[in-house]
Amino acid sequence: MGNITFVEHDGTEHAVEIEPGKSLMDLALDNGIPGIDADCGGECACGTCHVIVEGNGVSITGSASDAELQMLDLTPERADSSRLACQIVISDAMDGMIARLPEFQM
Ligand code: FES
Repeated sequence: MGNITFVEHDGTEHAVEIEPGKSLMDLALDNGIPGIDADCGGECACGTCHVIVEGNGVSITGSASDAELQMLDLTPERADSSRLACQIVISDAMDGMIARLPEFQM
């Protein structure tokens, strides 16, 4: 096992135990992480689960799909390692990953 750390815009950190097979969005919601709205429920259709991946997650989470990239284009705080949390499936290899939350979702 291991942990993924969500970091709010103000720097507040939340370390959450990895649950392989679950989406990063569901992990955040199930653990009460503030700042993930997930308005579409994980359908890659709202962009309100935007996270900026750091640490070992940048390479491990893989590439965003075309549909995800189109949604990310609409997010106000997009960064090079931006992802939609609903499109990331957690694995044990993500131990130590950092997911920064933008100040605002769409
Ligand atoms: S929850 Fe809507 S795009 Fe991720």
